Amino acid sequence: MADLSINFCGIKSPNPFWLASAPPTDKAYNVVRAFEAGWGGVVWKTLGEDPAAVNVSSRYSAHYGKNREVLGFNNIELITDRSLEINLQEITEVKKAWPDRAIVVSLMLPCEEAAWADILPKIEATGADGIELNFGCPHGMPERGMGAAVGQVPDYVEMVTRWCKQHTKLPVIVKLTPNITDIRMPARAAHNGGADAVSLINTINSITHLDLDRMVAFPAVGNASTHGGYCGSAVKPIALNMVAEIARDPQTKGLPISGIGGIGNWQDAAEFIALGAGSVQVCTAAMLHGFRIVEEMKDGLSRWMDEKGYQSIADFMGKAVPNTTDWKYLDMNYQVIAQINQDACIKCGKCYIACEDTSHQSIAQLIDAAGVRTYEVIKEECVGCNLCEITCPVQGCITMVPQDTGMPYMNWTQDPRNPRREVKAA
Ligand SMILES: Cc1cc2nc3c(=O)[nH]c(=O)nc-3n(C[C@H](O)[C@H](O)[C@H](O)COP(=O)(O)O)c2cc1C
Ligand code: SF4
Ligand code: SF4
Repeated sequence: MADLSINFCGIKSPNPFWLASAPPTDKAYNVVRAFEAGWGGVVWKTLGEDPAAVNVSSRYSAHYGKNREVLGFNNIELITDRSLEINLQEITEVKKAWPDRAIVVSLMLPCEEAAWADILPKIEATGADGIELNFGCPHGMPERGMGAAVGQVPDYVEMVTRWCKQHTKLPVIVKLTPNITDIRMPARAAHNGGADAVSLINTINSITHLDLDRMVAFPAVGNASTHGGYCGSAVKPIALNMVAEIARDPQTKGLPISGIGGIGNWQDAAEFIALGAGSVQVCTAAMLHGFRIVEEMKDGLSRWMDEKGYQSIADFMGKAVPNTTDWKYLDMNYQVIAQINQDACIKCGKCYIACEDTSHQSIAQLIDAAGVRTYEVIKEECVGCNLCEITCPVQGCITMVPQDTGMPYMNWTQDPRNPRREVKAA
């Protein structure tokens, strides 16, 4: 049986599944129920200086797919709206009752050393396992010089991280905002400031949709709205890329990463871990489906690890990082061609239309005397773009088959078609 336990920058947890700092972790009642359900740890909803934040009504909106499936989730909430004292008291009680679970405390304070020096001993006194610096909140707090306003300026990230390392012995995790051009910059700054780890992503600036009668976006607060923070399944691809960018950056290589963004099942978690994450955090999926999703996550991950022969999380952590490279190093001689399984094909013609209208006109639509249609790939024309496979509604009906070109690996820096290729000296 696979061992799911982790030691993430000195923080021990029975499994890699943590709840991210958000409503699921904003009070003892929730956190205790989450631990009862089996979560390995939590990052407590972000604490700040008193007086506590005040929230508006309404606060959430969603980007829906067909059948009202929530693809992306948007919120305009601020940090905790409860007093520091109550939060600290509850953290102390919960940690005492659940010593084997990880409790990390998220913090957001003004960019003044005294404020951090004042709060950090209070966090240590709760028995918490670590702190997470919320440099990512995209709404409300940046206007007050906090959250993303810090995370978007690498010098500030480094400075505040350094203060925290000076004023606490607890591991310091720096939570990064994705609302930045190059995620490696704040990650490097956190590393330079002495961070024990980074976590990402926080939410992405967003407006999900509008009420076109009232001409106001959702979530509406009376007759107005504001941009919120986007999260949930839709942001997973963005988060995975940012995690990989940091994992493969020579300047931050080896820096522990807690992966966040759109994680809803064990496969999502395994992907983050394979791209370098040492723990994963979940918010939206728990908000939409409840705490018990962790049962399937633990069970699924454990079974898959057994199947693959991975005994611990470390056995496959970062295993996909070396296979994630710059475009210029991809093999120009590699070739795949679409292949249609005629027995599985339902003759819908979607692949034909996609290839005919927007790809390489490589699928033939053949209609026999009885009017029966068949779709066949014209091998010589197919460039292997995957579009037909993506559009086909029957899973597994179209497969992309690697071809034996008989040619060796050759990347763009070596390709004779590249006028700027790196020509080797004779
Ligand atoms: C309603 C809501 C409130 C949030 N509040 C916080 C917060 O107080 N501190 C923080 O660091 N992140 C906060 N987040 C961001 C989440 O911790 C997480 O980074 C983000 O939602 C991406 O993960 P997900 O796709 O699993 O939701 C909040 C997210 C939501 C939806
Ligand atoms: S892989 Fe692309 S080019 Fe080839 S048949 Fe499909 S859509 Fe056309
Ligand atoms: S999209 Fe798939 S099912 Fe539809 S015609 Fe093409 S191969 Fe057949």
